[in-house]
This record gives sequence, structure tokens and C-alpha cells, in this order.
Amino acid sequence: MRVFALIQCIATVAAMTSPSRILGGTVTSIEQYPSMVVILFVFEWNHVAHICGGSLLNNRSVLTAAHCVFDASVSKYRIRVGSTWSNSGGVVHNINGIFLYDTLDYPPMIIHDIGVIRSATNIEYSDYTRPAPIAGTTYVVPDNDYIWAAGWGGPDPEDESELGQLRHVKFEKVNLDVCKKLFQAANYVLPADYMICVGWPTGDRSQYSGDSGSPIFHNGVVVGVCSAVVLGLPSVNIRVANFTNWIVEHS
Ligand SMILES: *[C@@H]1O[C@H](CO)[C@@H](O)[C@H](O)[C@H]1NC(C)=O
Ligand SMILES: *[C@@H]1O[C@H](CO)[C@@H](O)[C@H](O)[C@H]1NC(C)=O
Repeated sequence: MRVFALIQCIATVAAMTSPSRILGGTVTSIEQYPSMVVILFVFEWNHVAHICGGSLLNNRSVLTAAHCVFDASVSKYRIRVGSTWSNSGGVVHNINGIFLYDTLDYPPMIIHDIGVIRSATNIEYSDYTRPAPIAGTTYVVPDNDYIWAAGWGGPDPEDESELGQLRHVKFEKVNLDVCKKLFQAANYVLPADYMICVGWPTGDRSQYSGDSGSPIFHNGVVVGVCSAVVLGLPSVNIRVANFTNWIVEHS
């Protein structure tokens, strides 16, 4: 039985070397998604590279996936706000706090894959930098409703000029039982009831390596956080409404 954690791990490692794009979407800009945040990993010689995405919650906090920041070491991460590009522009902030919903070690597996990170410095709002509303505890996305995902992840684009540019893609929310059956048939761990599956009937749209932690939007509201991706199956996001209180408490 293959597990989500394996996929998450691959996503993180792959993204460190090839930050590029969401699958099946189109390029977009930070003006369209001013709450989008690039999670940067700091490696040797003080270089930084995009590993994940996140959503701005307020002037100091960013919502992301726990597996993006699992070692909980603040010096290893930075955030870039206000930029269409994962590798340049906007404002880069240091981090001074990481909160993970699960205290489980990673690996083997983070189940409640949700985390909040705190900026060390105040995040100023502008046309390019603005917090997103998140789903309240009773927020339900009807099956088959449209959901937009944005992120900097994905395979290397053929067009190098698009490398690192924010992309977005339109999905439908997939019924959870349908999603579970698809995962079962493919012999993967089933999505839980605090997850949201998104996909497209033709199957050629997906979140991807490096999209982890990035939001999915329903009518402009952040309803999920990208957690696990298996190409050919719906993308699995953590359902924000199950964690609203915790997120607000830690933001
Ligand atoms: C950040 O937002 C909080 C809550 O709205 C506000 O009280 C605080 O003054 C803001 N901080 C700065 C430095 O603007
Ligand atoms: C998540 O929310 C759904 C819908 O309210 C509920 O059925 C489910 O039990 C919740 N799961 C957890 C783990 O809180």
C-alpha cells in the first residue's frame, strides 16, 4: 500500500530542484491572487528555492501544509509575498514561528497536513498582497462546484520564460465517495473525511509537485490546502472547514 507521505516527500524534493507549474492550467498573476505566498526553503550558501505555496491569513501569518515545514526550524524557511514569480520580486520575510496541527514526526506520515507559519516582520498589504478569507466551520462546497487552484508547482514547462510564474487551473469538486473509490482501485490510502478531492472529468488537470500548501478557492474563499497528488487521480486537499478554529487560533 502506497501512502500519501511518500508522494508528499517526492513533491518537496522535486520542487526544490524544479519549481515550475500546475498541470493543465494557464499562467496568471499575483493581482488575481494577492493572498498567494511562496514558501522558500533556505539551503547552503544562503540560497533559497521555492518548495511550496501558502495563503496569507493576516499581516503576520500564512496557512500551508504541515509537510512543507515539517522540521519546524524557522531558520530554514522564508516567505515571498506580492510576487507573480516564485524566484523573484515581491517582499521576502524571515519566519519566527511554525505551528503544525499534528505533532507526529515526519516521516512516516502527516495525517492532518496543515500548518501556520509566522512572519518575523509585518506583512504590508497592497494590490499584490492581501489576506484571503478562509472557510468557516460550517462551509460546505457542493459536489461538482467549480474550484480554482493556484500555485507555482508542476513539471518543467516547455517554455522556459514561464518558469516560476504563478499558474491556476479550474477544477470540479469530486464527491468524496467517488474519490475514495478511485484511490481504492489504484491501491492508495483513501482520502479522509477532512479532505477535499478536486479534479476534472478528462483527468488532465492536476495540482503537482510544489503545489503543496497552496490554496484551492471556492468563490474566492480558501476551502482547502493542497496535500497529496497522484497524477491521474483527483488532487487531495485538506478541508479548511475542519480546522478553521485551530487556524484562527494560531494565526
Ligand atoms: C497587524 O494587524 C493587527 C490586527 O488587525 C493590528 O492590530 C496591527 O496593528 C497590525 N500590525 C501592523 C504592524 O500594522
Ligand atoms: C470534517 O468535517 C466533516 C463535515 O462537517 C465531518 O463529517 C467530519 O467528521 C469532519 N472530520 C474531522 C476529522 O473533523
